[in-house]
Amino acid sequence: MGTKGKVIRCKAAIAWEAGKPLCIEEVEVAPPKAHEVRIQIIATSLCHTDATVVDSKFEGLAFPVIVGHEAAGIVESIGPGVTNFKPGDKVIPLYAPLCRKCKFCLSPLTNFCGKISNLKNPASDQQLMEDKTSRFTCKGKPVYHFLGTSTFSQYTVVSDTNLAKIDDDANLERVCLLGCGFSTGYGAAINNAKVTPGSTCAVFGLGGVGLSAVMGCKAAGASRIIGIDINSEKFAKAKALGATDCLNPRDLHNKPIQEVIIELTKGGVDFALDCAGGSETMKAALDCTTAGWGTCTFIGVAAGSKGLTIFPEELIIGRTINGTFFGGWKSVDSIPKLVTDYKNKKFNLDALVTHTLPFDKISEAFDLMNQGKSIRTILIF
Ligand code: APR
Ligand code: ZN
Repeated sequence: MGTKGKVIRCKAAIAWEAGKPLCIEEVEVAPPKAHEVRIQIIATSLCHTDATVVDSKFEGLAFPVIVGHEAAGIVESIGPGVTNFKPGDKVIPLYAPLCRKCKFCLSPLTNFCGKISNLKNPASDQQLMEDKTSRFTCKGKPVYHFLGTSTFSQYTVVSDTNLAKIDDDANLERVCLLGCGFSTGYGAAINNAKVTPGSTCAVFGLGGVGLSAVMGCKAAGASRIIGIDINSEKFAKAKALGATDCLNPRDLHNKPIQEVIIELTKGGVDFALDCAGGSETMKAALDCTTAGWGTCTFIGVAAGSKGLTIFPEELIIGRTINGTFFGGWKSVDSIPKLVTDYKNKKFNLDALVTHTLPFDKISEAFDLMNQGKSIRTILIF
């Protein structure tokens, strides 16, 4: 390999400051150190969380930074001590680490890993490699990593705890979606909400995450899946993927959405999932779950969200609230299985892809997302 051990110069999109558009620049990517892997990114998608950074609504994030965390690529070289990967392997970088050593990784009860130390703001964690330095520089300045992945770069370096090796015949332009959006929404329904056969579900927000949650509810055997979005253009796809009813809160003549759902379901749904990530939708999701056993699962955390006030009475009546971190999947171990499941047509990633563009058109991809015109845009290097 001609590049092993050498600095690679390549293309990346840099967020120089909060609130400024990304700039495509030439960056230097240093070789991987111990327990690190350098990857050539082949396809990356963008997720709402990346847009949040670009829109500067993210607190505690260090700049300049290379964002992007939903991608697939090929191992270029490995650092000392790496045993599970070799150059040429197809891989998916993972913002959810699996160190296999911490109390969380050793427990079957969670997929959270103690490598994420900033519990109040996990999204601003993993901005440097384990030795507290960055592998990226641009114009002589160090550039921060993002979520341990930084996939808006043709080459990136990740820890070997944040990487899944996948099948050699995996379609990277599709399975990149397993790096965040699909796995999060689908897993939230299956692993966190634990949707049951014959149940009634409400999914708030029908973007990439919400549509994946709809697919998860359907796969779990839900008999009624109510999709909610303020953009009715999302409804056709939601119905095609399993939603039985779709509601737009803006078309309800000022009647709160939760009241409408309670009426429709004669008392509330068994499972509600918030995939929009605002205080308003989180509250509506909780309100529309049935007394007795209703479960409300929080997925999206929109930056700048004001949080939620909950009164004990809302839970004493038998409801449960939980949240999902990467859909509850033990990341490094589960993602290769999901890649195989996709190949065996157990779920539909193709439906989530509305656009494919060359990486240089990344701003166009953000515009499509912000205008609600795309579900997922795949950027190809
Ligand atoms: N009520 C219903 N739907 C809403 C509301 C609301 N008040 N506000 C926004 N939505 C819808 C949007 O119209 C959009 O269709 O939620 C959907 C969000 O989809 P995307 O923007 O495509 O975001 P996605 O990538 O699916 O992520 C969902 O997870 O990680 C978080 O911050 C991320 O909040 C985002 C969420
Ligand atoms: Zn761990």
